[in-house]
Amino acid sequence: MKQTPFYHYDLELLDRTLQAIKAAIGSHSNYHVHYAIKANANPMVLERICKAGFGVDCVSGGEVDAALKAGFAPEKIVFAGVGKADWEIELALKAGIFCFNVESEPELEVISQMASEMGKQATIALRVNPNVDAHTHANITTGLAENKFGINIELLPALVKRAQSMPGIKLDGLHFHIGSQILQMDVFETLAYRINQLLDQLSLEGFRPTHINVGGGLGIDYENPEENPIPDFAGYFETLSKHLNLGAGQQLHSELGRSVVAQCGRLITKVLYVKKGTVKQFVIVDAGMTDLVRPAMYGSHHKIVNISSTGPEEKYDVVGPICESSDVFDKDIMLAETHRGDYLAILSAGAYGEIMASQYNLRKLPGSSSTLE
Ligand code: LLP
Repeated sequence: MKQTPFYHYDLELLDRTLQAIKAAIGSHSNYHVHYAIKANANPMVLERICKAGFGVDCVSGGEVDAALKAGFAPEKIVFAGVGKADWEIELALKAGIFCFNVESEPELEVISQMASEMGKQATIALRVNPNVDAHTHANITTGLAENKFGINIELLPALVKRAQSMPGIKLDGLHFHIGSQILQMDVFETLAYRINQLLDQLSLEGFRPTHINVGGGLGIDYENPEENPIPDFAGYFETLSKHLNLGAGQQLHSELGRSVVAQCGRLITKVLYVKKGTVKQFVIVDAGMTDLVRPAMYGSHHKIVNISSTGPEEKYDVVGPICESSDVFDKDIMLAETHRGDYLAILSAGAYGEIMASQYNLRKLPGSSSTLE
């Protein structure tokens, strides 16, 4: 076994997931997926996604850089984010990316000015806050009027006019993203209706976007990952194609992140100690919240399995070594009888796992591999 803790990526499952997305898109040649690189920027993972022909959605200069280095074509890169710094805008303009997803009027002005100074026009989409409840965890809900993201829908028509009059701007699309880990398809249906209304309204005012970017958000099965390794891409694209009224020449773009990579990654960790308390048995592992922060940060549940033992099951709390009481992977779970030296796998950790790792407590960052040996 490699040095633990490390992320183990099943690249064959990733390939099958990418094929499933393509199959779900089918003959819709006007549908384009930009993988949300924030979910996982491991070079092994990016290589497969790039080879499969997907574009990429970035939210920082660092991500734009990583996408270019991984070989993604600039004309398939979108760049979102509520606070783009000047150097990041400059980097993206120089690279000639497909589109900036713009989140405010002052940002629009800065991009227009910088593009004009470079003798360019920046292609942009306005990010609309559609005020749709994603029915997901509060920390990952983004499409409500009270969230910091996007432009309030009421303020949009005036901003469309402003954008159309700016010399450095080519207004091409509208962008939406309402949240993450969305499993109810009716949420996407509601989003589609909201977009249709808005398109009708804007068309009366003479604006017809070439592309509609619906963002990401499709959820995965954290409870039964082994039974459901591939998310419901068919249901997702069917919902959109059925309910979103696209006209001739209009394109649908989406920014799937979690659903692309979550199930192909698991965190492998070694058991350091099994500690018996008076009311609990603790399995203390060498991975901590610094390696996978989701349980501590969002109270997320990741299925854990002991891959070394086949003994009878016992009840344990699985905890890390960090000096924080929130450094707990799960409580009161059943695991095969566990001993020092066993290896545990924390499943569905390919998205927002390795990429969110930190060095708190001056720990090493986790490694990664496509094999266990
Ligand atoms: N597009 C935009 C503008 C986004 O903000 C996000 C995610 C995505 C696309 C991709 O969404 P996905 O398909 O992955 O749901 N760290 C959290 C998730 C934060 C998501 C942030 N934005 C977690 O571990 O659950």
